[in-house]
Amino acid sequence: MNFDIADPALAGVGHRRIEWAARRMPVLAAIHERFEKEKPLDGVGVGACMHVTTETANLLLTLRAGGARVALCASNPLSTQDDVAAALVDLGIPVYAVRGEDSETFYEHINAILDTAPDIVFDDGADTTTVLHRERVDQKILAGLEETTTGVIRLRAMAEDGVLRYPVVAVNDSDTKHLFDNRHGTGQSSLDGILRASNILFAGRTVVVAGFGDCGWGIARRASGLGSNVIVIEPNPIRAVAAAMEGYRVMTSQEAAPLGDVFISATGNLHVFRGEHFAKMKDGAILANAGHFDVELDLKTLGQMAVSHRELRENLGEYTLPDGRRLMVVAEGRLVNLGAAEGHPADVMDMSFADQALAAEWIIENADQLDAQVYTLPDEIDHTVARLKLEAMGGGLEVLTQEQIDYLKSWQVGT
Ligand code: NAI
Repeated sequence: MNFDIADPALAGVGHRRIEWAARRMPVLAAIHERFEKEKPLDGVGVGACMHVTTETANLLLTLRAGGARVALCASNPLSTQDDVAAALVDLGIPVYAVRGEDSETFYEHINAILDTAPDIVFDDGADTTTVLHRERVDQKILAGLEETTTGVIRLRAMAEDGVLRYPVVAVNDSDTKHLFDNRHGTGQSSLDGILRASNILFAGRTVVVAGFGDCGWGIARRASGLGSNVIVIEPNPIRAVAAAMEGYRVMTSQEAAPLGDVFISATGNLHVFRGEHFAKMKDGAILANAGHFDVELDLKTLGQMAVSHRELRENLGEYTLPDGRRLMVVAEGRLVNLGAAEGHPADVMDMSFADQALAAEWIIENADQLDAQVYTLPDEIDHTVARLKLEAMGGGLEVLTQEQIDYLKSWQVGT
């Protein structure tokens, strides 16, 4: 078996961490058990380009239990957990991922999983999809799955331009994914990353959150819960009003720049914090990015403005400006929760990866009816995943009476 990982000797630690995550993923475990019996993915090749974490490991083991042949590479050069990579190789899964790999290796690894001739590609940020549309244009792929907002935006643009070659399921758009993973997962783990890198006290600080989508919603809420004063920057008027009604101050990035102690971007956009903002920020301000790509903080300009740069602590870079101000950057501006912490907790990835596993099964069942478009999963799958999660959390679902069902369906009853 071919693979490329940092150190096979880390497998023991990886196995224990994967086991701990598995205990907090009951929905995926139920699917794993069913897949083992029914083998819905028998003989299907899966090429996964995803964050190499304990949760992803459990997803791959579920797919394999369902009969799939799986291979994994990283969807971000800084998010790989080398012990997990080692454990998966130990379990016979080819992994191509080394934490901190350079861009050339990153793409070599994507090509390595494509060399395994996958039928389905699991993508997180559409990098594999891009390679399949720019370089490997003749490679046949049955279908793709996309995990994150940024990837879905790219795929919809490709479908609109008529260049998408195969059907793709936007797993991100399932309610059981983005309403929980993006909100609660990114919310908690982004602050976790900043805490591990800096160990600051959030209480009493001003935290500027750029983007009030699902991720920004979660980050703002968690920062506020820790006692921070939250400022939101948002170009969409509806989301901006939503932030204002949650009690946050809403203002432009130029107004927020001199006020913030911590700046967190979660927009999926480019150069959200840039030279004009760095020029106004306080000494000691901390910058972090929770968006998918490392383009949200304009670090090239910051590097040019700075007279010196050093790594002050693990995952905390310090840029000193000519006037003596020091701006701190977490995890080199790469997604902070995976670069400086462990990513989303397993408890929430349980639903996202249950969606992924059921999406793979849905694709196999429906492949002959799908066109080269972006699909969302049927509501039925969303409801099944939510129901299983609620059960696992010990909650009970209200059952409507027949009278209530009739009332909701009718315009004549009960008026
Ligand atoms: P979303 O589309 O729901 O929200 C993004 C928001 O940013 C929108 O409201 C948009 O109007 C706003 N925005 C765009 N440009 C802006 C700018 N220059 N300044 C301020 N706001 C701006 O997207 P979602 O789901 O919240 O995802 C955001 C990013 O986070 C994406 O790149 C996504 O792929 C990534 N993501 C990262 C995760 C992680 O683990 N760190 C997990 C899930 C998503």
